[in-house]
Formats: sequence, structure tokens, C-alpha cells
Amino acid sequence: MAVGTAARRQHIVLIPFLAQGHIIPFLALARRIAQRHPGRFILTVVSTPLNVRGLRSSLHPDAGVLLRELPFRGADHGLPPGAESTDSVPQGLLFKVFQASASLRTEFEGLVAEDIPREDGCPPLCIIADVFMGWTVHVARQLGVFHATFTTCGGLGTAAYFAIWLHLPHLNAASEEDDFGVPGFPETFRLRRSQMSPTLKNAHERDPWVILLREQITFCCSSDAMLCNNAEALEPTGTALLQKNTGVPVFSIGPILPPETISSAGRAAKVLGIAPEACIEWLDAHPPRSVLYVSFGSQNSVSAQQMVQLAAGLEASGRSFIWVIRPPFGFDVKGQFRAEWLPEGFEERARSSGRGLLVRDWAPQLEILAHGSVGAFLSHCGWNSTLESLARGVPLIGWPMAAEQFYNVKMLEEEMGVCVELARGLVQEVEAAEVERVVGMVMGEEKGKEMRRRAVKAAEVIRAATREEGGEKGTSLAALDAFLEAVQQGTPATGNSAA
Ligand code: UDX
Repeated sequence: MAVGTAARRQHIVLIPFLAQGHIIPFLALARRIAQRHPGRFILTVVSTPLNVRGLRSSLHPDAGVLLRELPFRGADHGLPPGAESTDSVPQGLLFKVFQASASLRTEFEGLVAEDIPREDGCPPLCIIADVFMGWTVHVARQLGVFHATFTTCGGLGTAAYFAIWLHLPHLNAASEEDDFGVPGFPETFRLRRSQMSPTLKNAHERDPWVILLREQITFCCSSDAMLCNNAEALEPTGTALLQKNTGVPVFSIGPILPPETISSAGRAAKVLGIAPEACIEWLDAHPPRSVLYVSFGSQNSVSAQQMVQLAAGLEASGRSFIWVIRPPFGFDVKGQFRAEWLPEGFEERARSSGRGLLVRDWAPQLEILAHGSVGAFLSHCGWNSTLESLARGVPLIGWPMAAEQFYNVKMLEEEMGVCVELARGLVQEVEAAEVERVVGMVMGEEKGKEMRRRAVKAAEVIRAATREEGGEKGTSLAALDAFLEAVQQGTPATGNSAA
């Protein structure tokens, strides 16, 4: 570990991956450190010009967080102008975003070595990097700087994602129906090939995705510490697996969620499809826990076939809903939404009956989930959406699309009992009747009631971990402080056990 003993300025540089689901929690982490330790650290979040512009518009000048731009040459990697994050490109160009983000290394090294504002000429104390920016470990080693990764996913999700890309265990499964184990996991943890994105399912040893991700994961495993956006008590098994399998001390410091005072409108470089006030007014007109919120995160949509069936199922369920809607998979993500993608007259019926609200592209998610009229969340179960839902005691209907979302859903359903899986990915044929059945069950009085009880319990666990009362710190606050102490003292990090 490259931690020296020389006196250091208290400067921390944070570098998220180029995706809203990563940038949002990184900014929230910087804010949390600034808030807990005012004046003790200089915090700088580094990203590309467009992302920094978005962050700047959401950052109060007194937040104690600085922003710095790195020049981004997306065109060198075949990205169109304005494409600086995964939500602004079609799925087919995602790999280029990963390649372009790795090419930031020289500029980042220059920035950290020479240019970051400091008072004593020393390099920063610590780099906190996204797991997809594992290459930053070289920069840290070169400069003798403490290096930590921050996984914006949960413990189990991260551990499973790492193990699967490193070992490709599904290649041993003879058929779609066969289940298989995952190296480093208990034998009882079984997956099927349907729980993988097409890219992963079709991957082989020489696949460019495999090479790129294995490299970043291996870098992460040589980091000095890993911060995890979970509370240890929320997923103790997953957290322990992450620490055991990576060999890196894990600090469960979350959930790091945007502060309640920051609206959804003010935390991402996105244009809202509806004013938060209008959304609240619509929700106010509905009884408690009667509305289903439907959203697939910052960058996903369903297929055209699935969209029609989802719409028909929502209508047949008789439940009220807010649906964040984008063009179906395969169409221009930024393009105009076409009426033909929905059953004839669907939107008009939803509007005139007051039962459904369709929001184009981006909704004020935090405000929606905080509203008492929301009874369940149909989600791809990206980790931010999962935490935002559980923090409000809202149970989930899972429809994982990519990345570690499949393993999140497995844990939420099998271990925590707060989720029912409705479908997987983009190729599964979804039937309206199945949508109707699952929505009815999760929002109903039998299974639904028990799921809500468990989701409320998860909210209590989250509150306890992130609360400070009468000098008593919740485990996540204690873990964050222990991490910062280790960084500042230049002592080796020991993870949750030290908190
Ligand atoms: C990605 C990965 O897909 C996910 O699996 C991983 O855990 C984190 O990175 P994403 O797919 O965007 O994230 O999903 P999610 O983690 O749920 O993050 C989306 C964020 O955007 C949430 O904070 C959510 O509140 C916000 N959002 C999304 C809105 O505010 N409004 C919207 O309409 C959609």
C-alpha cells in the first residue's frame, strides 16, 4: 500500500464513471464528507465538461465541493458530439464510453499531480474512484496517494458482478435452463443464463468487454479500500462476500443518497419531463399507497413488444400509475416518443380517467418515492433506485435489464422479501396478464402487505445506519469516519470491522 507518513493537505479527489447512476452518488458522497467534516477536507469531483456543467447547475456554492473538468475527446473513440455519459448514447455505443473514460488517464494524472489547488505543493491525500475507473490506481501509486474505490452498487451486486466477469461461470452451463454456481460464492447461490445481459451471456475469453472489465476489476482489487453504497446490516452476506472475494477492506458507508433538500431536478444534468409540483399535485389526488411508480433508471427502456404489453397490463390491473417513458429499445433514445408504441388511446384513457401519468424521459424520482400515495415501484432495480425505494419503505417489482441488476433482484426477492421479479431483460416476451397479476399481488393485501412491512423494516435499518443521535453514530457514519481517519493518518484501512 502506497501510504506514506509525510504531512499532507487534506484534499480528496473523486472521479465517477460517466453515467448518471454513478455521478449522482459520487456527488452525494462528496457532499456527505463536506457536511460531516466542514473545513477538514478540500473535495474535488472531476469529470468531463458536459457532466461538470450538469453538476455545477445542481451544486450550491456553499456545498464545500469543487468541480474540475477533464478534456474529453469522445470523437476519437467514435462517440457523437455531446455524448459524455451512458444515458446520451444508444446501447451499441456503450463500450465506446468505457474506452473513452479510460483514455482520461493522462489528463487526470496531470490534474492530480500539478493542477489541483493545494496550499503546500503536496499531491492530494486520496483518490476515490469509480470501480470502472480502476486505472486510477496507477496514478495513485505513482504519486504516493491513498486510493479507494467507491462502488455505487451494493455489496452482493458488486461481488457477483466481479466474480462473473472474472470467471464467466455461465460458460459451463449446458443450457438456458441449467443453473450454475459462482466462484467465491456459497454453493447455494445459483444463477441462470437469463440473469445476464446479452453482452455477458455471449462473452468469451477474448471478448473486448471481458478484457476491459477484468482489467478494471483487477485494479480495484489492488486498491487500499473499497467504499460500498450500502449499510452493512442491510446486506451483511453480500458485504462479507465482497470483502472476502476482493481481499480489499470494505467500508459500508451508505446509503449515500442525495440530501432531502436537493430535488431530483437539481441533481442530474437532465431536463425533467414534468415539474415536481405538478407531479405532487397529481399524487395528492390519490389515496395512500395506491400508485405504482414505473421507471427503468437513467439509461434503459423496454422493447417495443414489452412496452405494449406493459401498458396493457397496467391498464388491466386497475391500479393508478406514474410511468417514466422513453422510446423503446432500438430507437433513438433522444428521439420523439411516438403514439404507435403504446396501445391505441392508452395515454388519453390514462389522462382522462386520472389513473395514469406518463412522464417523458426523466421524472422527479425522489419526490415521487417520498410521496405517501406511492405503494410500489416497478424498477430495473439499479442500486440507486433500489436504495431510494427502500429508504422510503416502498416494495419493488423487479425487471432487471443489465449489469448487476439481476443479482440485486435475486437478493431483494429471496433474502429480503421486498421484491417480486416480473421479467428479465429485453428479449423475454412479457404478457399483459402477467403484469396484471404481479402488480395486483404486490399492491394487494396479502403478499403485498408483508412486502411493505419488510420494506419499512429496511427503511428503519437505513435510518439507523445513517443517523447520529446523542453522540451515537450509525454504522455507516462510523465507517465513513473510520475510513477518513485511516486516510488522514496514513494507516492501512481495515474496513467495517474498524468502524
Ligand atoms: C447504473 C446501473 O444500471 C445500475 O445497475 C447500477 O447499480 C448503478 O448504475 P441506472 O441504470 O441509471 O444506474 O439506475 P439507478 O442505479 O437506479 O440510478 C438512476 C438514478 O437516476 C437514480 O438516482 C434515480 O433517482 C435517477 N432518476 C432516474 C431520476 O431522478 N429520474 C428518472 O426519471 C430516472
